[in-house]
Parts: sequence; structure tokens; C-alpha cells
Amino acid sequence: MSILERIKEKAKQSRKRIVFPEGDEPRTLQAAVILSSEGIADPILLGNEATIREAALAADADITNIEVIDPENSPSAEAYTAKLYELRKAKGMTIENAASLVKDPMYYGIMMVKTGDADGLVSGAAHTTGDMLRPALQIIKTQPGIGIVSSSMLVEVPNQNIGDHGLLVYADCVVVPCPTASELAQIAVSAAQTAKKLCDIEEPRVALLSFSTKGSAQHELVTKVREATQIAHKLSPSLLLDGEMQFDAALIPEIGASKAKGSPVAGCANVLVFPDLQAGNIGYKITQRLGGAIAFAVLQGLDKPCNDLSRGCSVEDIVATAAITAVQAQ
Ligand code: ACO
Repeated sequence: MSILERIKEKAKQSRKRIVFPEGDEPRTLQAAVILSSEGIADPILLGNEATIREAALAADADITNIEVIDPENSPSAEAYTAKLYELRKAKGMTIENAASLVKDPMYYGIMMVKTGDADGLVSGAAHTTGDMLRPALQIIKTQPGIGIVSSSMLVEVPNQNIGDHGLLVYADCVVVPCPTASELAQIAVSAAQTAKKLCDIEEPRVALLSFSTKGSAQHELVTKVREATQIAHKLSPSLLLDGEMQFDAALIPEIGASKAKGSPVAGCANVLVFPDLQAGNIGYKITQRLGGAIAFAVLQGLDKPCNDLSRGCSVEDIVATAAITAVQAQ
């Protein structure tokens, strides 16, 4: 069974309410119908009701049994306004700003998740990553004990001998442009947690990647990865984690054995931590486009699950991201 099939099965076991701020977006409407009819999640569509029903008709999506909420005319708007004002007044938010923001489906959706009226949020078919991430970071905030929100990419490669039977977790490919050593350490620990929770990888083996393996090169960028490795060991002493190491030393047993002898991770890593966002984002796209891999992004470290789509996403991508979000909410 593929990782996606497993995640969908898990989602069905305890159905969660997933809110979509882009309620009139045609692919989102089609995905909502699949999620509802296959019992993967209970979708909630946000936006102007007449516009959504018209868009559904045009997209050939029967949304008769799907909940639609118009943030402009919602009985919950007043309570969300008061809550948003309370949460952000120290940052200069006025009650008027808050009232205006909750009419925006993105903020309304985030407030639904914050207050527990929805279990998770999926958006990004029509918005940039930053459009959703900023309000999520400001309002949902991080899980207790986790300092930073980052992402993992669940990557399934054709070669079953790599990672965990062809499954790898890459981090961070979406959120933190230039992590410090301590942020990189936190990303490594969060990625290991994601590997356990979403991929059923019982023993995450985490490699912190670099252009150097165990001192083969000296540079401040390498020093940062080495420091991150030490900090991550302190954050999670029982985790199998090692660095700094090159991509091939992390994945290929013979190279790992020769370049990082005795490492518990080299040659058999299943969680790869990239040194910054440029490396991570480029790395996953190379794996996807040249390596024939399938990849799904997931945000980690948020107190409640919210996930982002690419604007080029397919209906199936939206279904997959909603299923992942539902499992995170379980
Ligand atoms: N974790 C936790 N909190 C954070 C983080 C983080 N990683 N980043 C910012 N914050 C908090 C800030 O502390 C601040 O909180 P406050 O207002 O309560 O004080 C709030 O979020 C907003 O911070 P800003 O400084 O306004 O936000 P910033 O400009 O740093 O933007 C963002 C954050 C949107 C995540 C930015 O780092 C970003 O654009 N990242 C890259 C996104 C991207 O384009 N990814 C690649 C494409 S996606 C793909 O290819 C799949």
C-alpha cells in the first residue's frame, strides 16, 4: 500500500472536519466531493454561498451534502472577532481590524481551527504559501515545547532499497528560509516526529545534510550543520541522528560505511534534513522531477494542523493534503 493509501485509510478511521478557505475554487470543490463521498474527511467550504454554488455547478461538483459557510454573514463572526482581537491586541490589532479580518475566508478558517470549530485547514490552490502561513503562525502558533514551525516532505521513490522501503522524509522544503543551528536542530526533531506519526516509520534515522561528511570540508556553513547536530542530540537524546554528511553518504550503505564509519545513520537514513530552504526546496523538486518520486508537503510544529497546496495542484493533491491534515488532527 502506498503512503497516500495508508494515510487515507487512517483518516477514515476517525473523520475530521477540514475547512477550505478557497471554497469557490473548482479543484477544491471537486476534492471536497471526493473527501465527503469516500469518508476521508468532512469538508467545510468558505465563501459567498451563491458564488460557491455557481462554481460547483460549473465544476460538475455535487456539494448538496457539504457544509458551506459565508464569513460575511456568519453568526460566529462576532465571537471570532473578539477572540482575534484578544490574541493580537498586543501586536497592535484593533477591534475594527479584527472584525474586518474575520470576513476574509483565510482568517475565518484559521479562527475556526483555533477555536476547535474545525479540526484542520487546507488552502493554497489560489493563494501563496505566505498568505496562509502568516496568519497561521500569528494565530495558531507553535505546539507547546516546539520553538519553530517548519515542514516535512513525504517522499516516495521508486527504489525500495532507499530509506524506509522507498519512503523518505525531507525537511525543511517549505517554511524557514535560513535556519540558525538551533532552528535546524528543531527542524530535525520535528521531522523525526512527522516520520513516526504520518509515515509509521518506527525508527527514524535522521541525517543532517551538508557538502561535507564528518569534517571532510571546513566552512562556516558546515560548522552550522555540525552545531545543529549537537543541539538536536541534546533536544532528543534517544533519536538516531547524525551529521554533518553528504546526500550519498546518508543514503548509500557502501558510501556511508566508508565516509562515516560507525554512524548509526549513514547509508540507511530515512529522514534527510537540508541545511536551508533553497537546498531543501531544490532537493525535493529534483527528486520528484528527475527521480520519479511522489512528494506531499506537510507543515509541522503548528499547534493545530494547517497545510498548504501548490497553486499548480491537482484535485488528487488536494484530497491527499486534506487526508494528511485529518491524520495530523487525530
Ligand atoms: N515558526 C514559528 N513562528 C514563526 C515562524 C516560524 N517558522 N516564522 C515567523 N513566525 C512568526 C513570527 O514570530 C511572527 O509572530 P508574531 O507576529 O506573533 O510576532 C509571525 O510569525 C509573522 O512573522 P513575520 O516576520 O511577519 O513573517 P515572515 O515575514 O517571517 O514570514 C513566512 C514567515 C511566511 C513563513 C516566511 O518565512 C516565508 O515566506 N517562507 C517561505 C515560504 C515559501 O515561499 N516557500 C517556498 C514555496 S512552497 C513550495 O515549493 C511547496
